[in-house]
Amino acid sequence: MSDRAGGPAGRAAGQVGRVVAGFRERTGRDPDGVWAAPGRVNLIGEHTDYNDGFVLPAAIDRQVVAAAGRRDGGRLRVWSLQEGPPADLELAGIGPGRVEGWAAYPAGVAWALGQAGVEVGGVDLVVDGDVPGGAGLSSSAALECATATALADLFEAGLDPVALAGVARRAENEVVGVPSGVMDQMVSMLGRAGHALFLDTRSLETEQVPLPLEAVGLCLLVLDTRAGHRLVDGAYADRRAACEAAAAALGVPALRDATLGRVEAAASELGEERFRRARHVVTENARVLAAVGLLRAGDLDRLGPLLAASHASLRDDYEVSSPELDTAVEAAVAAGAVGARMTGAGFGGSAIALVGTDLAGRVGDRVRDAFAAAGFGPPAVEAVTASDGARRLV
Ligand code: GLA
Repeated sequence: MSDRAGGPAGRAAGQVGRVVAGFRERTGRDPDGVWAAPGRVNLIGEHTDYNDGFVLPAAIDRQVVAAAGRRDGGRLRVWSLQEGPPADLELAGIGPGRVEGWAAYPAGVAWALGQAGVEVGGVDLVVDGDVPGGAGLSSSAALECATATALADLFEAGLDPVALAGVARRAENEVVGVPSGVMDQMVSMLGRAGHALFLDTRSLETEQVPLPLEAVGLCLLVLDTRAGHRLVDGAYADRRAACEAAAAALGVPALRDATLGRVEAAASELGEERFRRARHVVTENARVLAAVGLLRAGDLDRLGPLLAASHASLRDDYEVSSPELDTAVEAAVAAGAVGARMTGAGFGGSAIALVGTDLAGRVGDRVRDAFAAAGFGPPAVEAVTASDGARRLV
C-alpha cells in the first residue's frame, strides 16, 4: 500500500509513541488516552467565514496529538513537545486575557468547556504534532480541537462535534484573542478522509463532498512559503471590520446577503477599499458554490479557473496575498498545475496546488527555482491527503 513507515500512518504511530513517552516522563504515570485533530487546507472560500458565507476546506494528514490524564485537584498542567515552556494553571483562574503564550490554546479550551456547562477537573496534557506553525494550515485549530476532544471525553461533556468546534473557536476568539471565523475548527472536528467539507458558516450545515484525487490522477500540494503571517492579527481584524462596515452600509446582516449587483450599485457610497473587500466576499461565495458543483459532478480537473479567480481576488481586491504566495501560485500554474491559490488567512503562509500526480515533482522543482530566482528562502513543498477529523487514537 501507499503507506510506508514514513507515510501518514507510520508518522501517526510514531507520534502516539512519542507523546505517550512524553506524558510518562513528565507525570510519572500512563495517560488515560490519546486524541488527535488535524490541520487543514482550504480549497476555496477565503475570508468568507466571518461574513456568514460558504467555505470548502479539507482536513489534512498533519495533526496534533494529545495525551491526557485526569488528576486530583483543580489544576491544568500542559506540556508541548514543540512549543514553549509548560504551564501549571489553576482552572478557576483561566479566562480572557489571563493566559500567555501557547498554553492559552489548551487553557482556553478548558475555560470554554466550562462556559458550556462542562465540569472540567484537574488534568495533565502533553501535546505533540506535525502541523507546521505559522504556515496557514491551522495548527492552532488542531491544538484546540485535540484538546477539546480529549477533555470532552475525559469529563463526559456530551457535546457533539459541531458544539466542540464552537468551544474551540470560543477559546481562540476570547482567550487567545484572535477574531477568527469558525472554518478551521469545524473542519478539524468534522473532516473526513477523501472528502472536502462544504460548510455554510451561517447555519453550520455541512456536506461531505467527495474529493477522489488519487482516482482521477491528481494530488494536492502544499507550497509553504515559510514566510510567516506578517501583521496577521491587525490586518485580519481590519478586514473583518471593513466587511462589517460594508454590510452595514448595504443594509444587510452580513455580506453573505449581498449580491454583486448590489455591491456594484453602492460602489461610491462604500468607497474604493470597502467596495473591493465586499466584491471579494460576494464573488468568493459564488466561487465556492461553483466549486462544490464541479466536485459533485466529479469534474475536479475543471477547478483551475475558480482557483485562479480566487487567488486574483484575494491578491487584488482583498489584498492578503504576498510576493511569495504570488510567486508560488504563478510557478505552479506555469509548470502545469490544474490550479493553485493561497490558502488560509494569507499575509504569508501557504498556497495549494492541484496537480497531476505525474507532474508533482516538476511543479515542486519549478516553485523552488522561482523562489531562488526571486531571492526568497526555500519553500517547503509537500503532498497532503484529505483526512479524518478529531478522534480518539488510544
Ligand atoms: C484563518 C481563520 C479562518 C478564516 C481564514 C480565512 O484561517 O482562522 O476563520 O477566516 O483565516 O479564510
